[in-house]
Amino acid sequence: MSLREYTFAYQVHDDKNSLSPADQSLIEISVNACGKAYAPYSDFKVGAAIRTTDQQVIVGSNQENGAFPIGQCAERVALYNMIHHLGRLPIDTISISVDNPQQKTPASPCGSCRQVLSEYRSFQKTPIRLLLTLAGGGVVYEINDVMDILPFAFDGAFLGL
Ligand code: THU
Repeated sequence: MSLREYTFAYQVHDDKNSLSPADQSLIEISVNACGKAYAPYSDFKVGAAIRTTDQQVIVGSNQENGAFPIGQCAERVALYNMIHHLGRLPIDTISISVDNPQQKTPASPCGSCRQVLSEYRSFQKTPIRLLLTLAGGGVVYEINDVMDILPFAFDGAFLGL
């Protein structure tokens, strides 16, 4: 028997001011993207802003539906937006902001978004950094790589890709 252990560390910033100007701007863009969310059922508005390694930025927001399961998360809307409008470019950072009065800490991506981002991450081979914030400001969670929050992931390698 052997033990395999997984550890995960992430940075907590008191506010966005300790981040670079480019990161602060990406956060502001994701906060603004919350304004395009369609979340009449949850009132949980999420904005995502992707910055590619060549410094292009593209956004998405969650889009709900009366048939609940077919709603789409902000992260996936942003990713698919990027693929269509900019191409399958390497991603540097994704800022994800939540606008919801009850939410007191930043939210992290749901399991489905982690899986979708991990598929993208597996071919780009470089880390996809995450910045998680509340739209109203306050702490920023900085996660070095999306794979840090999806350990032991299933990926195309199991299918011979
Ligand atoms: N949501 C996102 O857009 N991203 C996340 O990371 C978590 C959840 C959305 C889905 C749904 O519209 C609402 O937030 C409540 O779950």
